[in-house]
Amino acid sequence: MASKRQRTSEENGSNDVDNFVPFPGFGTAAIHAGQEPEQWNSRAVVPLISLSTTFKQDSPGVMPGGYEYSRGGNPTRTCLESCVAAIEGAKHALAFSSGLGATMAICHLMQAGDHLISMDDIYGGTNRYFQKILSKFDVETTFVDARYPERVAAAMRPNTKFVWLETPTNPTLKVVDIKAVSDIAHRQPGVAVVTDNTFSSPYFQRPLDHGADIVLYSATKYMNGHSDVVMGLVACNDEDIFKKLHFQLYAGGSVPSPFDCFLVNRGLKTLHIRMKQHYKNGLAVAKALESNPRVRKVIYPGLPSHPQYEVFKRQMRGFGGMVTFYLKGDLENSKVFLKSLKIFTLAESLGGYESLAELPGVMTHASVPPEQRKELGIDNSLIRLSVGLEDVEDLIQDLEQALKLAVPE
Ligand SMILES: Cc1ncc(COP(=O)(O)O)c(C=O)c1O
Repeated sequence: MASKRQRTSEENGSNDVDNFVPFPGFGTAAIHAGQEPEQWNSRAVVPLISLSTTFKQDSPGVMPGGYEYSRGGNPTRTCLESCVAAIEGAKHALAFSSGLGATMAICHLMQAGDHLISMDDIYGGTNRYFQKILSKFDVETTFVDARYPERVAAAMRPNTKFVWLETPTNPTLKVVDIKAVSDIAHRQPGVAVVTDNTFSSPYFQRPLDHGADIVLYSATKYMNGHSDVVMGLVACNDEDIFKKLHFQLYAGGSVPSPFDCFLVNRGLKTLHIRMKQHYKNGLAVAKALESNPRVRKVIYPGLPSHPQYEVFKRQMRGFGGMVTFYLKGDLENSKVFLKSLKIFTLAESLGGYESLAELPGVMTHASVPPEQRKELGIDNSLIRLSVGLEDVEDLIQDLEQALKLAVPE
């Protein structure tokens, strides 16, 4: 694989979008890894969609093709998983039917009486799963602000099994120092660090390189990038974790369809191009909002005003299109703003080519208990944008006209 020159420390995490150097060979791996035409008799350049649920055995238990039953493994899924492992710099990757399906499979590696430490600001559905489902199986979750690694140290118990990070977080875009937290977690044998890397994609951040043990994606977002598949992805290096997760996939059954695997695999082919443009557009939108008098505060990891800008520069090579801001107003102003948008669509989800806007307190994070929302700063003036790939001048104009209608100067 072609190797590119190493980045200097100044370039590392620089928000000079045009001059940053991605992981060496990322685009080549995304396009070729796991896609070898030789694996198909027809030598198809584009991986086939293998719909068969079952595979012929030569004699009982002898499977020359390596596949038995599609829940355990499928050729189209293998193409995707190989590609994900390559772009993640990981030994193994697995595809699940959704991000939450992958979350559940990871959590099933725990047992009753175990303890989980979670970043306090995480996707609302993950929070709900920890509090409403996992708790029923006697696994207790302690939420801590892992931006302060000493708080993770203080929360550790002898029965702690996982430290669950999401960085940058959804929706307040806090940045956690993965290495600092992993160093603390690994002081206790048997503790694994999971990092939800959905907002960054491996193009900008590879958590395994910073000490995490498992990286998780809602592939529904940037990895697929076209808002037409719900899927989860997991990558890891540890053989034992991989085997246990594969068993969860096979025995728990949260598998994606071959057609969805085909689509996400296709989406990955342009991930490097899309992420670069999301970064350009996201940064431009964040800067425009920061100078808008109708906006109280903008949060974007690539802005020098971000409280963890130094960690961002050290740990990430850029960021995508997620921009969070507080407008000057309350619920009514937010509603007028969201209804006045013409190019941004008012909808949940993120990471597609199209721009979306939403109100986390009422939408994606409504399931987070109100007192926790308050602590996290998720109030009704907090707007989350997923900045897409449209012409950025049009996007900025759209935001400005909606702000004018929603917030009196
Ligand atoms: C950061 C993050 N993690 C996990 C999930 C869950 O993924 P899925 O919706 O694919 O189940 C989401 C969904 O929005 C998310 O934003």
